Amino acid sequence: MQSTSMDYLTIALPKGKLFGLSADLLAKIGYTAEGLSDKSRKLIITNEEKKIKFIVSKTADVPTYVEYGAADLGVIGKDVLLESGKDVYELLDLGFGRCHLMMAVPKDEKRAKLLDYNHTRVATKFPHIAEQFFNRHGMQMEYIKLNGSIELGPIVGLSESIVDIVETGTTLRENGLEEIVSIQDATARLIANRVSFKMKFDRIHTMISDLRTILESEAAAK
Ligand code: PRP
Repeated sequence: MQSTSMDYLTIALPKGKLFGLSADLLAKIGYTAEGLSDKSRKLIITNEEKKIKFIVSKTADVPTYVEYGAADLGVIGKDVLLESGKDVYELLDLGFGRCHLMMAVPKDEKRAKLLDYNHTRVATKFPHIAEQFFNRHGMQMEYIKLNGSIELGPIVGLSESIVDIVETGTTLRENGLEEIVSIQDATARLIANRVSFKMKFDRIHTMISDLRTILESEAAAK
């Protein structure tokens, strides 16, 4: 009999920094497939024996695949998830990919307080999160959406500040920028399509429980 999408668990993995960590963690519970790599030009990689399909996607698109049910599950940073505003279940904090969203400005142009930046321009990959943050502080800003190398914004005079993620702080340091306020902590999350979660409950439930066991034993060993 031919397999249908109900037979498979489809998991969207983000290319880039989270890919290797996601694939390593999933391999520990037996969720792997031959040739699974973010360098591969093959975008769907299937493990027929275990009935798992991996979708290798642009990071920002993972929540979209999951919301529409093209993927049952996905791994994505909390920062990108919040920015996407997608309607998915957040099942598990995977603990890796720790970073935080913050506002930074050129060191030598630092102003006395946050409100002093009111009505200035912010360069960011996260305009929704940034807007929510500044609205909470009663500030009206101009948001300039960039898709990468956000730190360039203030250096080339495109904006007065940036809202971006910081992991090690190296990029800020190397570009003469300084964090002035932290906005949101983030780690990688396992997300699920709402319908898939119900239709494939047993399989997903077992998977979460296996992942929890691994994460707890790794945390205990630290
Ligand atoms: C992210 C982020 C910062 C950098 C922070 O960029 O936008 O630029 O990492 O990391 P650090 O604190 O360890 O220096 P990414 O490498 O994802 O590429 P991008 O700039 O093209 O978005």
